[in-house]
Amino acid sequence: MEQSGFYGPYGGVFLPPELARVMENLARCFDQCTADPGFVRELDRLYRQYVGRPNPLYYAANLTEELGGGKIFLKREDLNHTGAHKINNTVGQALLARRLGMKRVIAETGAGQHGVAAATAAALFGLDCTVYMGEEDTRRQALNVYRMELLGAKVVPVTAGSKTLKEAVDAAIADLAANPHTYYMLGSAVGPHPYPTMVRYFQGVIGREAREQILLEEGRLPDYVVACVGGGSNAIGLFQAFLEDKEVKIVGVEPAGRGLASGKHAASLTLGKPGVIHGFRCYVLSDEEGNPLPAYSVAAGLDYPGVGPEHCALKDSGRGTYVTVTDREALAAFQLLSRREGIIPALESAHALAHACKIAPTLAREQTIIVNLSGRGDKDVDQVRCLLAGADLAVSR
Ligand SMILES: Cc1ncc(COP(=O)(O)O)c(C=O)c1O
Repeated sequence: MEQSGFYGPYGGVFLPPELARVMENLARCFDQCTADPGFVRELDRLYRQYVGRPNPLYYAANLTEELGGGKIFLKREDLNHTGAHKINNTVGQALLARRLGMKRVIAETGAGQHGVAAATAAALFGLDCTVYMGEEDTRRQALNVYRMELLGAKVVPVTAGSKTLKEAVDAAIADLAANPHTYYMLGSAVGPHPYPTMVRYFQGVIGREAREQILLEEGRLPDYVVACVGGGSNAIGLFQAFLEDKEVKIVGVEPAGRGLASGKHAASLTLGKPGVIHGFRCYVLSDEEGNPLPAYSVAAGLDYPGVGPEHCALKDSGRGTYVTVTDREALAAFQLLSRREGIIPALESAHALAHACKIAPTLAREQTIIVNLSGRGDKDVDQVRCLLAGADLAVSR
């Protein structure tokens, strides 16, 4: 990364001066904290004692057997406290909020996982918490809305535009602009600098553990690391430990929704154009005038029209490959993992799994794939029940 928060031409800070100053202050605090051994020790303690790290790298023997070919390993972020990778970031940002003397935090959420993780960290640190959530997502993820409320957070449904994640981020930025003594706990590796760098740092624990675990288990690096990409935080969390290992193929999986040709997808890297959204430059799904288009995925946590700046640079350089998986393929992978391994994945994670299911049969037995199982699927069970009842998507045994 270059000095000013750019990854090649992507990233940066494209905000009015008052908000740009908030970002400068945050960047300074982040640099001071990460250079402070006491901060690093406290973060490590929270990861071990509160989040439940390290989580396992699990060899999915039944799935491997069923598909034939290379071995599939799952990085079990679903086993973290609150059920997803999002908590790695929120405990880190709660430490920053405390260091800045903030008493109130705000967050945006799509699937509700980041909202739950933010509300959890806020409860732990005694902070007042407001979560913005698109109204459409409050309906799809009603259980997570109630979880946030149980944790003491206020959930504000956002009714503008497509009523999903983009509008929730808009509302959080508007709140921050009106309330400078509020800490904005952003949930993915997106937004103005320093957020992509900070979220990368806090999620980096995923890749560090996975690298150590696969070397211990297999005595060699993986052939592939695969993760779903919404904003890109679980993916960059896993990928960063392998960026220098040129023999490891890095694959990010975007949601093709109902098909790329249908226009109902959220494949920003695959079909977007460089532009500015939410204060940073990245690939954006946009119309001829450059206005963001509504994004769609069966997985609420993936339907964002932009994407993290480092993924844009990895795509351009060719170090990362970005592919797509449809709703239908993700639902099939969701059912396959549930039945063959007894693990119900989040619909977001099922996208990464669906792509791994395509690669595995093309590999030799000694080759390996690490799939980031970014979250558990309890939050999606009701939605999947309705989808499978209403369409011919159920996988028969
Ligand atoms: C379980 C899970 N995985 C993945 C994502 C996508 O986010 P990101 O791309 O930042 O990892 C989300 C977002 O809500 C999520 O809840």
